[in-house]
Amino acid sequence: MDINLAAVKMRNITKRFGSVLANDRVWLNIYKGEILALLGENGSGKTTLMNMLSGIYFPDEGDIYINDEKVVIRSPKDAFAHGIGMIHQHFKLVDVLTATENIVLGLEGKLDLKTAAQKIRQICDAYGFDVDPDQKVYDMSVSQKQTVEIVKVLFRGADILILDEPTAVLTPQETDKLFAVLRNMRDDGKAIVIITHKMHEVESLSDRVAVLRQGQFVGDMPTKDTNAQDMTNMMVGYPVSLNINRPDPVDPKPRIEVKNLTVRSIDGILKLDDVSFTAMSGEILGVAGISGSGQKELLEAIAGLQPVEGGSICYVDDDGTHDELLGKDPLSIAEKGIALSFVPEDRLGMGLVGEMNLSDNMMLRSFRKGKGFFTDRKSPRRLAKQVVEELNVKTPNIETPVRKLSGGNVQKVLVGREIASAPKVLLTAYAVRGLDINSSHTIYDLINQQKQKGIAVIYVGEDLDVLLELCDRILVLCAGKVSGIVPGRGAKKRDVGMMMTRLGGKDNA
Ligand SMILES: Nc1ncnc2c1ncn2[C@@H]1O[C@H](COP(=O)(O)OP(=O)(O)O)[C@@H](O)[C@H]1O
Ligand SMILES: [Mg+2]
Repeated sequence: MDINLAAVKMRNITKRFGSVLANDRVWLNIYKGEILALLGENGSGKTTLMNMLSGIYFPDEGDIYINDEKVVIRSPKDAFAHGIGMIHQHFKLVDVLTATENIVLGLEGKLDLKTAAQKIRQICDAYGFDVDPDQKVYDMSVSQKQTVEIVKVLFRGADILILDEPTAVLTPQETDKLFAVLRNMRDDGKAIVIITHKMHEVESLSDRVAVLRQGQFVGDMPTKDTNAQDMTNMMVGYPVSLNINRPDPVDPKPRIEVKNLTVRSIDGILKLDDVSFTAMSGEILGVAGISGSGQKELLEAIAGLQPVEGGSICYVDDDGTHDELLGKDPLSIAEKGIALSFVPEDRLGMGLVGEMNLSDNMMLRSFRKGKGFFTDRKSPRRLAKQVVEELNVKTPNIETPVRKLSGGNVQKVLVGREIASAPKVLLTAYAVRGLDINSSHTIYDLINQQKQKGIAVIYVGEDLDVLLELCDRILVLCAGKVSGIVPGRGAKKRDVGMMMTRLGGKDNA
């Protein structure tokens, strides 16, 4: 491609945070009419680099050219003036305002909401967005909020769009919708940068990939000339295996027996409908299903965090004694060795306290286990150190507040904390949400280690390919019902996909 068509040129961009060199003399071109996938491991400097285009950070060194003209971007307002808009990982919408009010918020001049709503509808029609201008943000799904963020930058006239891990919080269906919109925008001549860790997304969506490693630009190429393996090797800097191990189950015995479990939400909706299954020790039981099919309620019911309408959940001890968990409080369930690690869409929203440092966050865990709050400061520190070392968490030290860590690192702490608690049953949901491939594999390895120690693992995942590679059996949920339980070895992706949408893969009975 002719270099003169570059909408953006970044030259020798360097950015330091104290002693951390986040970007190191980076060169990057972004072209009109293309979708560029910006790749790199967690912490490799992707967000920082893009934040210098969107006016959040200012480079220590280097130059930025927009349409071949050298520019200085000191604020998001400057960025907008140059046609740059960024959709951040954490949305910046005001909950009590409507879509339209959020979109015009901060704009100078008179706020004619009616004209604004009209223009919003035009943008939506042009690219295929689905937004209700009058809907309040607190009533919106994550995907709808994201759409508002995108419309907001388009409303301000952006023709260079940056999306930072936009699909980390979307269902496969929502992702398809987003990608259709992005392709429309690309075909309309806009320059689009997407940061994602999902290789199949990179392959299906992007025209070109650019790779960062430890803050440095290590190369770019047309997407059609590369593949997941080569891209991963480039990101990591050495050859890595993308195969997920699946050791044989070790002496599997019933550990959790769920019978006829029925859960209703506060507003009366049936969330789990007569669910029965057995989770075995030394085995990974995967749970597949489209988002909101009862996965969350299932794990929370086992952990004692979810009111249950009927059925039973038994913990089966090594000697075969059955212990009913229903009616027990979460603390005593946790004391039995049932650990729940649920990675929410908003990673700081649950389970970790942003202002607290790593080891204090670990202490929250051991406090839950019933140890005295101040008596055992050593073991949370040890746990924190262990998690940092084993999961390669990038942090200056364990005294750093969690909120200062990058998203992927926060997550390693969240998952690592539960794994490090040496449970008997590990309930885990969306454990690799937002993690780069290498870190995801670290998590798969850790989960496999748990399995080989004889722990019963229940793994709720979003990526069918991973479920099929990692799990010994897969329980498929469809609208709160068990659609079937299939062996992980030999099951076909297509069949499991069908079971996710239709009970037993057949038309709804
Ligand atoms: N505001 C900040 N203060 C201190 N360090 C930061 C800040 N933002 C990012 N970093 C550090 O800069 C490096 C690159 O981070 P980031 O750009 O978020 O990586 P990526 O988006 O590729 O995961 C990391 O080591 C991260 O911890
Ligand atoms: Mg980032």
